[in-house]
Amino acid sequence: MGRPGMDVVGKVLPGLKAEHQIDLVIAQAENVSDGKSMNPDDMQVLQSYGVDFFTGGNHTPKEPALWPLLQDDNQPVIGPANMEGSPGKGWKYIDTPHGRVLIISLLGATVGKEVVIKNPLQTIDQILAINQDEEPIATVLNFHGDYSSEKVIIGYYLDGKVTAVIGDHWHTPTADAMVLPKGTAHITDVGMCGVLHSSLGVTFASVIPRWRDGLPTKNELELNGPYQFNAVLINSDEQSGLAQDIRHIQKIIE
Ligand SMILES: [Fe+2]
Repeated sequence: MGRPGMDVVGKVLPGLKAEHQIDLVIAQAENVSDGKSMNPDDMQVLQSYGVDFFTGGNHTPKEPALWPLLQDDNQPVIGPANMEGSPGKGWKYIDTPHGRVLIISLLGATVGKEVVIKNPLQTIDQILAINQDEEPIATVLNFHGDYSSEKVIIGYYLDGKVTAVIGDHWHTPTADAMVLPKGTAHITDVGMCGVLHSSLGVTFASVIPRWRDGLPTKNELELNGPYQFNAVLINSDEQSGLAQDIRHIQKIIE
């Protein structure tokens, strides 16, 4: 979430990557540049910190400079596959030291205002059918949604078919990271990287007058620490394409 989110990734990720010998780092990147979408310069900064691939959300199409990258199969960034007006097809492959990984970005049925969304379950069925003859070593879905029920349902709907279903959009992590019965790693919401004492990364001073008194305030990013880093770490089996374990990682730094 904004510059503080980028900074905390820069401080935490290189150490985590070395400590756990991580082969692939995926970040949801719809709130990177001043809280809305991600510009190519900020994408490069996050790549220099060790992020390998970027998924999207309802804010992703708001940065026109990102559109050519979303449409280019060689650029490691996607927007949601089922959001009307989001450039690109919403899934891509990325090479890792062990083989190719398929990464997909989807919105839940309800996310934000004025966003037209195609049915997420029908969309993921179509994407998996298109890719059924490919043999990725892992398939990772980022599910960007509002309802916890949907975020749980799609995990079980895809259990045994993909490596991981990672929910987000709340900016608040849930305590339910687990491998589902048929081998898919799941969490309802992974949480955010950004300022700890904030309303999802935004100052309380800019949101409380709107909520309490109906004043038309504009969201302002909170910049002061401490900062939180949230992620999940997943081990997966290259042969089966299923998860062996998942755990939530949270770091709080000054
Ligand atoms: Fe969002």
